[in-house]
Amino acid sequence: MRRKLAAGNWKMHGQSGDLAELTSLAAAHPASRVDILICPPATLVHRAAQATSGTAIAIGAQDCHAAPAGAHTGDLSAAMLKDAGATHVILGHSERRTDHFETDQIVQAKAQAALATDFTVIICIGETLAQRDAGTTLGTLSTQMAGSIPDNADPTRLVIAYEPIWAIGTGLTPTPDQIAEAHAHMRATLTTRFGAKTDQIRLLYGGSVKPANAAAIFAVGDVDGALVGGASLKADDFSPIITALAAS
Ligand code: PGA
Repeated sequence: MRRKLAAGNWKMHGQSGDLAELTSLAAAHPASRVDILICPPATLVHRAAQATSGTAIAIGAQDCHAAPAGAHTGDLSAAMLKDAGATHVILGHSERRTDHFETDQIVQAKAQAALATDFTVIICIGETLAQRDAGTTLGTLSTQMAGSIPDNADPTRLVIAYEPIWAIGTGLTPTPDQIAEAHAHMRATLTTRFGAKTDQIRLLYGGSVKPANAAAIFAVGDVDGALVGGASLKADDFSPIITALAAS
């Protein structure tokens, strides 16, 4: 069956001194029943991978370019990130889609490149508040999944994170029923493309996951873990989320 995944997205936070959080986290979870992933900023990927070598913590990147190399100033290829020690990559986060105008097609091209480089990819989807209010949430998720996920993706290395944009960094979260509805829709939609292998695809919830609400979110059917922003920065916050996932 699917191994659960507690993934932390540090976004544009973290410098050398923050690597100590990884050491604390590793010490608190020496042999974890769930997969633990931290995606620090690219500047820390190499040192984070070294600091967590031999521990239960994997290190990921927050983006990669679709090309293997080339004249793309400021960008990083999947091969470079793999060379630095990353094994996972977050793609199509709503902040990338907004700040860098990433379309579903761009996200899919990046996912192809990352999967071809042996990465596990976490593809993010989610509706705006206007889309939820208009009743188009499930249609939005279908469109994003159809456009962002490569057909030939290996299901064991494919993770989809449902992140309602209005829940990211706001302290707002959907109700358990709303999360359940979205995840059931995602699983059903993926089944039409991947058949029985859909069972191997992990579905995460993301958006204002905290120690206080983690257990309730993990109790929702078809939630295989979380993508956590703010509460992943400190080991003292992320650790109880990992523990809640392991107990779910
Ligand atoms: P948040 O971010 O946990 O700070 O809401 C989640 C995310 O953007 O992945």
